[in-house]
Amino acid sequence: MTFRPEQLALTRRISSTRDDSRLVCLLQPGSAEAEQFRCLRYSLLRTLTAGRCNVIAVTSPGGGTGKTTTAINLAAALEEAGVFRVLLVDADLRTATIADRLELGAVVNNGLDAALANGSLGLSDIVRSSSEPYGFGILPTAARPDIAGQLFASPRFATLLREAREQYDFIVIDTPPLLPAADCRAMAPWVDGFLVVVAAHQTPRKVLAESLNAMRQEQILGLVFSGDDASPWFTRGGSVVGN
Ligand SMILES: Nc1ncnc2c1ncn2[C@@H]1O[C@H](COP(=O)(O)OP(=O)(O)O)[C@@H](O)[C@H]1O
Ligand SMILES: [Mg+2]
Repeated sequence: MTFRPEQLALTRRISSTRDDSRLVCLLQPGSAEAEQFRCLRYSLLRTLTAGRCNVIAVTSPGGGTGKTTTAINLAAALEEAGVFRVLLVDADLRTATIADRLELGAVVNNGLDAALANGSLGLSDIVRSSSEPYGFGILPTAARPDIAGQLFASPRFATLLREAREQYDFIVIDTPPLLPAADCRAMAPWVDGFLVVVAAHQTPRKVLAESLNAMRQEQILGLVFSGDDASPWFTRGGSVVGN
């Protein structure tokens, strides 16, 4: 396997400051785990429509299951192909962890939360465009758990996504958990599909079934199992049987 020089620089730069071993596509591109994200990339490429922007939201029934980790690694795996313009969006206004995990610094009045609240902010005001050390664009947010529900009820998210669709081939959106918050339901009309991250051997089937039933079936791109021996493990479709 060969790496482009900028990828090697990327590996050095973030690993020197942070031990975030789960960001395998950034820190350990030669690992078996990073290879699994490439498999996920190919599964998605088979599933999605070529020749137009695809907006993929990453969600899960509850918190702490690996949504953010999956979203970051998927954005990196898509970018690594070298042909796609990729935007990673932190739309989890409840916990907002992408700026911290990618060491972007504080997000103060220049993130998704600010643009949802303030109609005069456009995409170019808030996106950290693809430059060193990342090859993909990043739209971070500050945490606004108090008003997240209200912000997603506004039409601003749709406007911003429309603008982004014109500039990118893939938009990967990190979202809050599906069951406790309405945010994923609010953004569903504007995204092309959801990847549902499931904690292997932990997420109860009933809870997963409840989550899948809360989505339009044709919007479920598939399940990503995190924390499994060969994680992430991807399966297409969304039917769950049993308990
Ligand atoms: N595939 C995985 N296997 C094991 N641990 C993981 C995996 N993906 C994420 N984690 C860990 O689980 C915790 C929660 O991950 P995170 O991506 O923040 O989840 P969420 O966004 O759903 O809250 C983090 O400590 C992360 O390092
Ligand atoms: Mg998260």
